[in-house]
Amino acid sequence: MGSTHGSARVLVASNRGPVSYTVGEDGSLDAKRGGGGLVSGLSAIGSDADALWVCSALSDGDREAVRRGAGEDGVRMLDIPADVHADAYNGIANSVLWFVHHMLYQTPLEPVFDAEFRRQWASYETYNRAFAEALAEEAAQGAVVVVQDYHLTLVPGMLRELRPDLRIGHFSHTPWAPPEYFRMLPDDVAGQVLRGMLGADRLGFLTQRWADAFTACAERFAGGLGGTRIGVHGLGADADFLRERAHRPDVEERMAALREEIGEGRRTIVRVDRTELSKNIVRGLLAYRRLLQAHDEWRERVVHVAFAYPSRQDLAVYRDYTAEVQRLADEINAEFGTPGWTPVVLHVKDDFARSLAAYRLADVALVNPIRDGMNLVAKEVPVVSDAGCALVLSREAGAHEELGEDAITVNPYDITGTAAALHEALSMRPEERAERGKRLAAAATALPPARWFVDQLEALKG
Ligand code: G6P
Repeated sequence: MGSTHGSARVLVASNRGPVSYTVGEDGSLDAKRGGGGLVSGLSAIGSDADALWVCSALSDGDREAVRRGAGEDGVRMLDIPADVHADAYNGIANSVLWFVHHMLYQTPLEPVFDAEFRRQWASYETYNRAFAEALAEEAAQGAVVVVQDYHLTLVPGMLRELRPDLRIGHFSHTPWAPPEYFRMLPDDVAGQVLRGMLGADRLGFLTQRWADAFTACAERFAGGLGGTRIGVHGLGADADFLRERAHRPDVEERMAALREEIGEGRRTIVRVDRTELSKNIVRGLLAYRRLLQAHDEWRERVVHVAFAYPSRQDLAVYRDYTAEVQRLADEINAEFGTPGWTPVVLHVKDDFARSLAAYRLADVALVNPIRDGMNLVAKEVPVVSDAGCALVLSREAGAHEELGEDAITVNPYDITGTAAALHEALSMRPEERAERGKRLAAAATALPPARWFVDQLEALKG
């Protein structure tokens, strides 16, 4: 029987893969490798594990790599028709499931589950089936498969039917909605999502809170967990990688440039996010404006360095949000700025070296999401910061479960409360900041990415 199957013994499935391609002017393919927990996790299990990563072809370069059969070993990109992928990724995953789990809908305009939604839902099923079939084809007898995130909730159930011999896990990198919010989905769709997930042997979540929310949904709407086990794995920051990377010359160069922009002797409040509605960047700026209004002693003495990198720009709601962030930053600069002082330094072009430079310089990090599965920025800043940095952290970020004791906690909707927290963070004595910073860094690195991944594999096999 084994001979009719593939040869991969450990498989990962995710929409976004570890590599992306661009086609150069001379027609050559250029590969760019990404980072993140899964990449370090897979490298930790070594090349003899016959690992395979199944992901979507997302760009023209990716599709060209698939056509030429030129992809990297260990990665299989699925060239799903562009319209099917757009419906599944933009329509269902990022406009519906992401919104449900982050509780982002705004009545009276949203959500609307109409004929267009039904059409997109059919594409989501097709897209999930393409993954399930590819995994079924590639997996060796008894192989372990770890499916990632809200893009692929139907895959465990579909794969279980195709290949009952496999050990199937699913990991959610987002929060899970509480039952009262989750039930906004049409009943049949909610049922399909839950049954799809419950096709897995084991479901992983970043915090107990998200795991409990899933369990509550399963109990209310799907008759319970059945035989599916639940586990919590709080992905931590990769200290070795970050500390080494943050001291390379390109980061030093960017620190010098940022110091110029900030100006001599000023405190720095740093935030780094994808420009994503759940990250709550607009309320962060409003809180900073409130700080400057309520505490004029900080005028000229503080700069808010905000990096808001482009994300999901096919969606109008994200483009509008980016424009709103830009508009508000300009407004604050016009209102308070002086010839020698720019209160908000906003950068919108992705640059990892510059993010690390800002982490090193930060006196205060502002991480105020409405809801967030974990939030790795909250974990990375304390690890990289040169002098120990105060952390203003939303109680709705998964990271708060691990960092809450040494952070200054905020309700992300409370603008005056967030302004007060920024003031407290800016006013913290340097010794206290350094001490808290050390404890934050220790908590943030408690579960390094490699261990996080291996723990899941072991739990699945056990
Ligand atoms: C979140 C999701 C990931 C996703 C990432 C970037 O962290 O949990 O699955 O890859 O956002 O979003 P994108 O849509 O660009 O892949």
